[in-house]
Amino acid sequence: MARRRMDVADLEIGMDVAELDRPWIDSPFLFQGFVVQTADELELLRETCRYVYVDDDRREEDAEDRTIRLSINMRPQANPERGGAEWRRIAMEERRAGFERELQRMHAVREHARGYVKNLMQDVRFGRAIDTDRARQVVTEMVDTITAQPDAALWLTQLKQAHEYTAQHSINVAVLSIAFAAHLGYGPEQLKLIGLGALLHDVGKMRIPPSILDKPGRLTAQEFEVIKRHPVEGYEIVKGTGDVPPQSLEIIRYHHERVSGRGYPDGLRGDQISTAVLLTAICDVYDAITSDRVYHHGIPADQGLNAMYQMAPSDFGRELVQEFIKCVGIYPVGSLVELGNGAIGVVMTRDPLNRLRPVVMLLRDSRGRDYLPRRFVSLAAQAELDHERDWTVRRVVDARQIGIDMHALAADELLSGGHQVVHI
Ligand SMILES: [Fe+2]
Repeated sequence: MARRRMDVADLEIGMDVAELDRPWIDSPFLFQGFVVQTADELELLRETCRYVYVDDDRREEDAEDRTIRLSINMRPQANPERGGAEWRRIAMEERRAGFERELQRMHAVREHARGYVKNLMQDVRFGRAIDTDRARQVVTEMVDTITAQPDAALWLTQLKQAHEYTAQHSINVAVLSIAFAAHLGYGPEQLKLIGLGALLHDVGKMRIPPSILDKPGRLTAQEFEVIKRHPVEGYEIVKGTGDVPPQSLEIIRYHHERVSGRGYPDGLRGDQISTAVLLTAICDVYDAITSDRVYHHGIPADQGLNAMYQMAPSDFGRELVQEFIKCVGIYPVGSLVELGNGAIGVVMTRDPLNRLRPVVMLLRDSRGRDYLPRRFVSLAAQAELDHERDWTVRRVVDARQIGIDMHALAADELLSGGHQVVHI
């Protein structure tokens, strides 16, 4: 397909925009690739970009294109005076359908990754050769999906369950690291190297006896020394394959190094630790402290971010942690929030233009009654439409404390309409 660069001034209705001059996440457009249909869309493209890439073999608009077109410009406040309440509501429903499609796609990628990581863990445990080709394949799928729609990928990292912690954690750290590195501006090839290092970062743990690795109580000094061997063990195992690049290997070896010099195994400090390593370390700690383990509950996402912020000066550097918070959002996707009006919802997408007012799916009203069907609302748009009630986020709430089962919610609302057992 012929793709050419075009100044937005020359763009016309009916042209097929394949790519922007900036990441899609930095634009008000939700999906990659759409046919310009209206003067409003054309105007918004001209406001947002200087140039775009156009595919010359114009497509007929099919149902999917229509969804994409209607979902466009639904990032609240991109142009607040445009559109009435009904149009916004319809567009929100379209947006919801698009999000659910992306969620299903990411879920399939995670299932593939999960199968791979479980085999990998067995291979390492039994001293067999590890399959790095499949790791690369998994990471390529992750990079493709995450760069297209990071919100769906991040949403699934928030579904925590205690069993299968190690596999789930490896996948989450890879997803978070790819999303965070993309946010920082790394290109696709670097994202794959970072993703590979992140996916394999803890393989050395498979050489630690389970009695120490899964010990619920406090570790003795000797036991901790055993745990501290896992970065070097993992590094040696993966390096031994001879086909994993140094940028991925350094993530495995150094992901417990800290800028204060108090990390391990080598006590590196400050800028001896690369940004790629530090960003993966941030994702590792964030996922660990917000995850349930067999012996303790994870803390909610906002408290996790707060804890990361406290650790920042000694562990990762303040600037990088601030960027991480910008990346995942003050109210991270997938977290449950209570609104000022008492309703409960789950955060569905980040909004770079309005971080305090994300799009949420409303679950319960202020009297605790379930919304059925559950509604997608943009808090920014809702605040403009309804001045009577408070549509700000009051706080992040713990799903367990208010009796919401996020796995059941994901299964019946978002992934295959509840007809399929979901492992996440
Ligand atoms: Fe580790």
